[in-house]
Amino acid sequence: MSTTVATGGFAVRDFADSDYGGLIALHRRDDPTFHWDAADLRRFDRRSGGLVRRVAEDRVAEGRRSHLIGSGMLTAIGRGAPPQRYKLNLVVDPARRRRGVGGALCAALESAALDRGASHLRGEAQETNAAALAFLAKRGFVELSRSWESVLDVAAFDPARFAGAEGRLAAAGIAITTLADELVDAGSEHAIEAVRRAVHDLEVVSERDEPSPDPPGPGTAYEAYVRCTLEDPNLLPDGFFLARDHTKDGAPLAGLSYLFAAEKQSGVLKQGFTGVLPEYTRAKRRSSSTRCTAPCPGGPRRRTRAATPRSASPDPSRGTGTGRRSRCPGGGVTPRRPP
Ligand SMILES: CC(C)(COP(=O)(O)OP(=O)(O)OC[C@H]1O[C@@H](n2cnc3c(N)ncnc32)[C@H](O)[C@@H]1OP(=O)(O)O)[C@@H](O)C(=O)NCCC(=O)NCCS
Repeated sequence: MSTTVATGGFAVRDFADSDYGGLIALHRRDDPTFHWDAADLRRFDRRSGGLVRRVAEDRVAEGRRSHLIGSGMLTAIGRGAPPQRYKLNLVVDPARRRRGVGGALCAALESAALDRGASHLRGEAQETNAAALAFLAKRGFVELSRSWESVLDVAAFDPARFAGAEGRLAAAGIAITTLADELVDAGSEHAIEAVRRAVHDLEVVSERDEPSPDPPGPGTAYEAYVRCTLEDPNLLPDGFFLARDHTKDGAPLAGLSYLFAAEKQSGVLKQGFTGVLPEYTRAKRRSSSTRCTAPCPGGPRRRTRAATPRSASPDPSRGTGTGRRSRCPGGGVTPRRPP
């Protein structure tokens, strides 16, 4: 284990498996509503390939128990491209801020990113979080994009506006199914694998139309898609809607839209990805998402995140969050989903 002793009575070191409990406690000191436990964090880390964590702890006399006062995490960004872009997350104990802990963690993670051949490092902060914005600006980050969280009040949603959508699709030969039904109908392991691969192919192609500050990549590898999406314990297979075009041989998939349960937030569902193949988008057959509200009667809320690249100068009065891009020391300048 490599340990860097920083000034100010603390040390930054690699994360160890025994740190999960301390990390949860640290997150709760930062945010008392933080609802993940150590098992959730472990699961997140297992699913996130290539994740790097560093922690800061008080320097303590030998034999005394150490105390985590900060944590930082690096995750690869991209759609299957070689990971040259990384996202940075930092949290410092509220009682220990403005003493260089965040800066030391950031430097350690910048160094880890450079070791991995990174060209870009991205941080994220709410636009109301003046400390984080000042921190990122001081370290050379410049604004790249803003994102908004959209919340749908399902109880107040009026499905009447979309009443004819499924019928219109059916008239055009397109049927809406669910992943749950497709997997049951598939029957054999071989057929199940074929459905999963077709879903993956559909998402890889349709996500190319999603606005992104990142250059297009080859798409998420199948194995990673299975691990991070299809085998996510929060995925709702009966809320995973698929559109099949029965006018074509083999009734290929044309679109998808899926939901996750929000961990420990009862009554809340999260929107995963919604995508339609370009040829169907042009034909204005984009109605599959109307079914997304069907599995959540009784008023759960559905959340979705949207990101839009911005090239104009930032207007801090708009949007609810900022994405930033940074200069990675030595890596040239600049150019761009947990704790
Ligand atoms: C953002 C955060 C990680 C900074 O950690 P920190 O240990 O306080 O940061 P440092 O002491 O290394 O601060 C370095 C510089 O950042 C800037 N900064 C940090 N906090 C600031 C604040 N509250 N107001 C103004 N500037 C601030 C200052 O320029 C500071 O240098 P200075 O103290 O010499 O003026 C910490 O506030 C935090 O954990 N916030 C909650 C989590 C979060 O928002 N993370 C998003 C960042 S990815």
